[in-house]
This record gives sequence, C-alpha cells and structure tokens, in this order.
Amino acid sequence: LRCIFFMSHSAPIGFFDSGVGGLTIWKAVVDLLPHEHTVYLADSAYAPYGERTPEQILERSQLATQFLLSRGCKIVVVACNTATTNAIAPLRSQFSVPFIGIEPAVKPAALSSKTKSIGVLATKGTLTSALFKKTAREYAEQQQIQIVERMGKGLVPLIEDPKRDSAALHALLHTYLAPMKAADVDFIVLGCTHYPIIRTEIAAIAGPGIAVIDAAQPVANQTRRVLERHQLLNQQAQPTIHQFFTTGDPIACLGVMQQLGIAQEQLPLFVTLDD
Ligand code: DGL
Repeated sequence: LRCIFFMSHSAPIGFFDSGVGGLTIWKAVVDLLPHEHTVYLADSAYAPYGERTPEQILERSQLATQFLLSRGCKIVVVACNTATTNAIAPLRSQFSVPFIGIEPAVKPAALSSKTKSIGVLATKGTLTSALFKKTAREYAEQQQIQIVERMGKGLVPLIEDPKRDSAALHALLHTYLAPMKAADVDFIVLGCTHYPIIRTEIAAIAGPGIAVIDAAQPVANQTRRVLERHQLLNQQAQPTIHQFFTTGDPIACLGVMQQLGIAQEQLPLFVTLDD
C-alpha cells in the first residue's frame, strides 16, 4: 500500500474523458457506489483524442488530471480507452493518487467466443497503442481467436454533436460493422467509451447472435476495489454532490447526460484547462 497521499474518504472521485463518452463509465460507478461524490470533466474541445498523437493525448490527460486534483479528487478514473492506452503509465508515475483505466474488453470476449472470431471497434489512438496490441496479441494467440479491428473514425464527433446526424451515423456503422459480420464474429467489443451511447444503433446493425459488450461494469468494480484497498470508500451517508465540467458546449454535454438518464439540475460548467 502506498501511503504517500493523505486523502479524505469523503473527497470526490474524479473522471475525465475526451468528451461525453466517459459519462457511460460515470454512470456505472455511481450506480455501484451511490455514496460517492464525483467530479466529471469532458474535454470536448479537444475531442476526438483518438486522432491525436500520443504526446498530445498525454498532455491533455495531464491537464485533465491536474484539474481534477485541484478539485480535491481522491482517485482518478481515466474514463477513456484512448487516454488509458496512451497515457496511464506516465500519469501513474507523475501523480500520487490511484488511477483506474479502461481498455477494450478483449479478454472476456475472447474467452467466451464460440465462433473464435470477435470484433473490436475503437479509436485509432487505442488500436495503434502498444498496450492494446499487447493485450490483443496475448488473447488472440492464447485462445486462437481472430480479432477484426475497425477504427471508428467519425463516430465520436457525431456522438458529441447535439444535432446528431442519424443517417450519417447509420452509414458509418454499416461500413465498420460489415467486415465484422462477414468474419462471423459473435462479440463486438465497444473499445471507446463514447460508443455505448449509440449501443442501440450498433446492436440493431449487428443483429441477433452478436453480443455487444463494453467494460463499464468491470471498471466500476475495479474502482470499488481500489477505494477499498486504500480505505477511501465514503463512509458518510449524506446527499452526494456531482459536479460536471466541460471544455466544450455545456448544452451538448447536458443532452447526452439526459439521454443516459443522468438527472442534473444545472448545466455543466464551462472550463478551459489552458491558462
Ligand atoms: N471516449 C474515448 C475512448 O474511450 C475517446 C474518443 C476520442 O476522443 O477519440 O477512447
């Protein structure tokens, strides 16, 4: 146990993502840990991270972490596959709070696949990262699984846009999912936290017989384990406070929160991390 930080158990859990995608993780964590206060940062002005260089992704992740720590967060959930796969190791060595990351759920899909073929839809940043390649190689080789990878270029901007163009979304999804279906996958791994927001559209195109999975629940479980290990679970049963911040459009952020059933009285607050 590293005791180099002295954080109160009643401090909030911090979350960041390149935008609204990490709200899917926020929801799973808050459902599991209803006594925790939270701070969520959507770095929407810099989305998509998936098209940026590893150096840019690290820089934004450092700024986002600094912001969350300045709000007193006791741990940081990197609610973004792209930021996790490109930046979590340097974040862990630079900052003393515990970090929880998210990676595409290749392992459960590979272990459960009957057709021995799985699809992974993720960003360019995630699919080209060393961490993802290592995991994919490990499980594909061990289980003799074919992995059909597709970069979901264009999906994140459509999901971030409050006037989501459903025809364009549908067309893109068809393009990305067709090779997976042709390869007889029985699992499609949503390797970007934005994609569960359009799970209904993805599942409709995938059709019956293909399970569409993500890693929100395992991340929530891991968050609880880490808080327990550091004796940081909130013990006080007072009303919780959830704060939402965005570097982009607060109305767009609120739109996705409403779509996910996240009740919030006030608009997310606009912030800039660049000062
Ligand atoms: N939501 C993010 C992820 O899980 C990043 C999407 C993006 O900004 O490209 O990968």
